[in-house]
Amino acid sequence: MKFAQIVGWGMHVPDKVIGNDAFVQMGLDTSHEWIASRTGIHERRFVENGQPVSDLAVKAAQQALQVADAHPSDIDLVILATCTPDQVMPSSASFVQHRLGATKAGAFDLNAACAGFVYALSTAAAQIESGRAETVMVIGADELSTHLNWQDRTTCVLFGDGAGAVLLRASDEPGIMASTTGSDGSGAGLLEIRGGGTLANSNGHASNGNAFLTMKGPQIFRWATQKLGEAATKVIEESDLTVDQVDLFVPHQANLRIIDAAARRLGLPEEKVFSNVDTYGNTSAASIPIALCEAISQDRVHVGDNMILTSFGSGLSWAALVIRWGTPIPSSVPRWTPIRLSLETRVAAVRSAFKKSQRAVRATIGERLNKDGD
Ligand code: ACO
Repeated sequence: MKFAQIVGWGMHVPDKVIGNDAFVQMGLDTSHEWIASRTGIHERRFVENGQPVSDLAVKAAQQALQVADAHPSDIDLVILATCTPDQVMPSSASFVQHRLGATKAGAFDLNAACAGFVYALSTAAAQIESGRAETVMVIGADELSTHLNWQDRTTCVLFGDGAGAVLLRASDEPGIMASTTGSDGSGAGLLEIRGGGTLANSNGHASNGNAFLTMKGPQIFRWATQKLGEAATKVIEESDLTVDQVDLFVPHQANLRIIDAAARRLGLPEEKVFSNVDTYGNTSAASIPIALCEAISQDRVHVGDNMILTSFGSGLSWAALVIRWGTPIPSSVPRWTPIRLSLETRVAAVRSAFKKSQRAVRATIGERLNKDGD
């Protein structure tokens, strides 16, 4: 049996840091004390100057390639979990595939909101286990700041922007051991962005004010504390593990109180729970891969460790999976690897420019021939 093993990882967040006091300075009726005590969030990052989500995703994916010492042309599939794509079509994954120079890869976006990265990992693992793919790039990237209503204190203080990526490769050793995904569309109205879809756009009504994220926070809170624990228990049992054998719990980083409540339900001590919601806020599909990267850099992940990833979000949707960590953590990236990857990226850009001009020439010749035919 083949397993999917994480062999590379990377993250990228925008430079612009927004502390809690920035909201007070904007005139919002809130305070650092309220935000920090009710959510655990101290600061978050926001994109500037229209930086698209694909840009964050490419940077995270390039790091994952570096860590794995892999070539973009090794990638069979790029799955980008996002609910804030660059545009409605094509998929942002296509932009990422192209910019990485992943010439052999298929690419698609997956939208399960904040649960998207774990959904994408589960999908990628199935591709590898079935033998349809050998190497898959899985990215979680979101820019919810582009949908926040700065007058709504119940939502705008909670979210941040960022991207995280892992490279999965087929292996004889586990790997991703079990996963579960779930959805309950009866709760769709609890957390939504209504603009941008066919409902909002039909009859030329465009998005108007519907581009803002709206949320019934307390209802999500109650549901999430229960769901995180339930989903984790399910995958722990399916992997024939006990809670004592779990070495690290990496939950979706939405609210420290939700994380603490879920860990208590599972009976996990604090030292087995990873959280960095204080620094990034809720980065949606990026939250788990960013947390994973930081857990690795803080020496909290070791070969043989059993890790639980659990996520929840708009949908309502949720997902959880168990990973037996199998890749030694490299102390440094070989010096020539970034140089090689930067060269490969430039070659991809030149190849892209060449293909575009080839297309333009073909189109012009086609038009001329058509005219001559008339
Ligand atoms: N500053 C000051 N006061 C505030 C703020 C704020 N930023 N936000 C809300 N309040 C007020 C409310 O208006 C309310 O005032 P009132 O009592 O006068 O009416 C009071 O604080 C208490 O509000 P609650 O909503 O009951 O506060 P709660 O403790 O539930 O915290 C929160 C709210 C943080 C939103 C919490 O419910 C939560 O985290 N819910 C889960 C949200 C979540 O995880 N969403 C992401 C899902 S993932 C995805 O797919 C994107």
